[in-house]
Amino acid sequence: MRAGHPDGSLFPLATWRRLLTRSLRGGADYADPAGLEALRSAVARSAGLSRSVRASADDVIVTNGAQQGLDLVGRVLVEPGSVVAVEEPGYPPARLAFTALGARVVPVPVDGSGLVVEALPRQARLVYVTPSHQYPLGVPMSLPRRAALLDWAQRHGAAVVEDDYDSEFRYSERPLEPLQSLDRAGRVVYVGSFAKTLLPALRLGFLVAPASLRPALVAAKRLTDWHAEPAAQAALADFIDEGLLRRHVRTVTRVYATRHDLVTTAARGVLADRFTLVPSSAGLHVTLLAAPGLDVPGVVTRLRDAGVAVERLAGFYAAGGSTGEPPDGLVIGYGMITAADLPVALDLLDRASRPTG
Ligand SMILES: Cc1ncc(COP(=O)(O)O)c(C=O)c1O
Repeated sequence: MRAGHPDGSLFPLATWRRLLTRSLRGGADYADPAGLEALRSAVARSAGLSRSVRASADDVIVTNGAQQGLDLVGRVLVEPGSVVAVEEPGYPPARLAFTALGARVVPVPVDGSGLVVEALPRQARLVYVTPSHQYPLGVPMSLPRRAALLDWAQRHGAAVVEDDYDSEFRYSERPLEPLQSLDRAGRVVYVGSFAKTLLPALRLGFLVAPASLRPALVAAKRLTDWHAEPAAQAALADFIDEGLLRRHVRTVTRVYATRHDLVTTAARGVLADRFTLVPSSAGLHVTLLAAPGLDVPGVVTRLRDAGVAVERLAGFYAAGGSTGEPPDGLVIGYGMITAADLPVALDLLDRASRPTG
């Protein structure tokens, strides 16, 4: 039950192979560092339809996964000692990427409405958030909070990195507008990835960046690795243009919805005396907050010994935590476990977390 990884067996391998083979006769020269025009326009259209992102092909920069997107933004905006605000709890690879570039990363708490804007450090140059589906808690950032964050960024001259890593998978209500489309001041860099909708190993993602940052981001991409692999880019452009991505997301969302239901039903039922489910209606993981006194490390170890991997919520807090003891719990991924195997794993979780003695 690793947190948030997709099910590799659902990947349409035969179709991908066919598209990739067709694309392999590409040119011999270096390609555009911003990405193939065909892919940039396919991404702009598809992110517009599925996520209400406002973009044309010129606004898109193709990256090797979201992680490279974060690195490029950091290379352009972070100087040694720059303050970067990151959600607490948050996505450790984001924290590490900005730290590696010399930033002073400051954890900023998240409540039931998302990042607590009043707690942002005044000097923050960059604010990293996951508003569609907070990682790892799962709460969406409320609309008033989105407005407050954009207002804060404009008043403080900061940029906002909106990591929209998994919100294609939705199980109930319509998603809120992304920060990117609410932003009127050119403050938001939107980060997208195909790691969840397709496969993490493809290493394909993208940035939608305001015009003021695009030349520097493209220059950083060129300096880093020139461009993403053209055949894979062309295959993905065809995959999107032929409607296969939409169809794939529709199909796998139904598969993941069944798994999401199994986990949330157990969390609200048999596990409810030990855990509180953080409500979440998107993505490939849910978070359960542990009741005070529950031995969470013990639960994780007992599950691991039984062959079930879950992650400890405490591991998503910056070392040393900003506000005393962080709450603990479990982050449960259901991307890599079938609906047939889930009841057994949930039963093991029930037994591993029962009081002993
Ligand atoms: C918060 C978050 N952002 C981004 C990603 C995707 O990163 P990448 O595209 O680099 O694989 C993940 C994947 O697990 C994630 O959890």
